[in-house]
Amino acid sequence: ADIPKYVAPLRIPPAMPAVSTGPERDTYVIAVRQFRQQILPPSWPRTTVWGYGSTAHPGSFGYPAPSIVARVDHPVRVTWVNQLVDDRGDFLPHLLPIDPTLHWANPAGGNAERDQHGHRDGDRRGYRGPVPQVVHLHGGHSPQESDGHAEAWYLPVARDLPSDFAVCGSAYDEFRSRFTERSSLRWSAGSATFEYANDQAPATLWYHDHTLGATAQNVYAGPAGFYLLGGTGDLPDGVLPGPGPAQDDPPDTRYHDIPLMIQDRSFTAGGDLLYPGGHSSPGTGSTIVVNGRTWPSLTVQRRRYRFRLLNGCNNRFLLLSVAAHATARPARPVLPIWQIGSDGGFLPEPVSHERVTLGPAQRADVIVDFTDVPVGTELYLVNEGPDWAYRGGRPGVDFPPADPRTTGQVLRFVVTEATGSDPSVPPEQLRLPAPPRLPTADRVRRLSLNERMSGPSGSMTMLLGTLDEHGRGRPMRWSDPVTEQPIVGATEVWEVRNFTRLVHPVHLHQAQFEVLGRGHSGQVQPSPGERGRMDTVLAYPWEVTRIKARFDLPGRYAWHCHLLEHEDNEMMRPLNVLPGGG
Ligand code: C2O
Ligand code: CU
Repeated sequence: ADIPKYVAPLRIPPAMPAVSTGPERDTYVIAVRQFRQQILPPSWPRTTVWGYGSTAHPGSFGYPAPSIVARVDHPVRVTWVNQLVDDRGDFLPHLLPIDPTLHWANPAGGNAERDQHGHRDGDRRGYRGPVPQVVHLHGGHSPQESDGHAEAWYLPVARDLPSDFAVCGSAYDEFRSRFTERSSLRWSAGSATFEYANDQAPATLWYHDHTLGATAQNVYAGPAGFYLLGGTGDLPDGVLPGPGPAQDDPPDTRYHDIPLMIQDRSFTAGGDLLYPGGHSSPGTGSTIVVNGRTWPSLTVQRRRYRFRLLNGCNNRFLLLSVAAHATARPARPVLPIWQIGSDGGFLPEPVSHERVTLGPAQRADVIVDFTDVPVGTELYLVNEGPDWAYRGGRPGVDFPPADPRTTGQVLRFVVTEATGSDPSVPPEQLRLPAPPRLPTADRVRRLSLNERMSGPSGSMTMLLGTLDEHGRGRPMRWSDPVTEQPIVGATEVWEVRNFTRLVHPVHLHQAQFEVLGRGHSGQVQPSPGERGRMDTVLAYPWEVTRIKARFDLPGRYAWHCHLLEHEDNEMMRPLNVLPGGG
């Protein structure tokens, strides 16, 4: 059936309630739980999802989660708790099918094999639960024990936990003891305590599950939220449109700084989440969900708004514009989208876009100015990205844009009169704090993105790797020997050659990097929206993508493709930063 659009108002995630705030740090206890939420329009069934919330405020749980509002250089400590259990305390099964033939967390031990007929054991047996979880702060400059390593997962504390199950991943104990040494804090089963120093530039970060081999299903089920880092290095109050959500806001606070988590999801007739495909052929969802509601509507005043755009899709690329018509293609943008920041903070100067390209996990900090739009006007945030795997190029020319009747639409704006004055500076006049340049590189590392036929069905597996001496890709799996081992303090140029037919969003943990260039020789200038710091860069087919990063925290991290189905199926490699020589 056709899901009606623009029925429900946009939901703005509130600020996550803290357990305590103080001069030393802010402290949170945040659990992931299962609950039902109205994602489809009000007269439709509610959807069972997972989401984070503060354990002290049962009403705070949501999909997406409340936003963690943090300040530069003011540490945040979070005890993350896996509460995927039912009322009786028994573990909950996964909402979606896990592929146990992958290299994955698998608390039951050993991965399923295919039998002589090529059937996967897991197709018949299926993994039901308990569900492992671990939280990663995406874009965070986090010490290793707080990074949410894929093998630092933990199960819920459940009454019926099978005694032969591993209750945590191989990296969990190592990181727990490190954290305990540093902080004298007690860890307990079913949870992990992480501390974020926030020693980085103000930026729009986000947090999401990162469990080995199950990130795609875990994140699809809901657990994700914004982490809004402000403070030192930000523009003075009032220069940018605001306010955004803060702790203890009264319920009817008017926000002009609004995070938008844009995701695609499919639903069953009963309103349950439907996972559109498997790891070998990742699919895309058939609806667009913004902040946990399908195709919401936002009433805006005739003034400027700041939107923190996040592509929270598993594997869909978005090409966004503000158009007068919902379905006309090509879209005719009527208002510019002024980009002021990327993943890691401010751009050197504001950039006016007709269309903003956002790969999975990427953020764009933007301003849209509705000041001169007549009252009563309806405008649409539309998407001209493809409905299938992205190979680069222009919509309508190189690929058919997303279905204009469904996934080609995102959000409606309805313009009303302004109730007060707008002190914010017009985007074209903004002076942004220049991001500091990274030092000269100590070395160049040559890497590759590869595809390889695998399995009886001849499906394609995507792999990261190095380059051999002939310039050919040398694909490697997650568990192969570590090859990316910068010395702590080193600045490195990474040249990533893409030997596949697809665009991959390449993400590094720990570092916000500079994009140096792309193209066949890597000499094509990055686009103006890529001239700030990034943590996820689009690597186009047959091109070399060149980035520069500084690694200043020793320990075990990762780099990976952020198409979650690729990440889960071996398109992830360790990034181990070695302690400096003594
Ligand atoms: Cu957003 Cu390693 O992930
Ligand atoms: Cu990929």
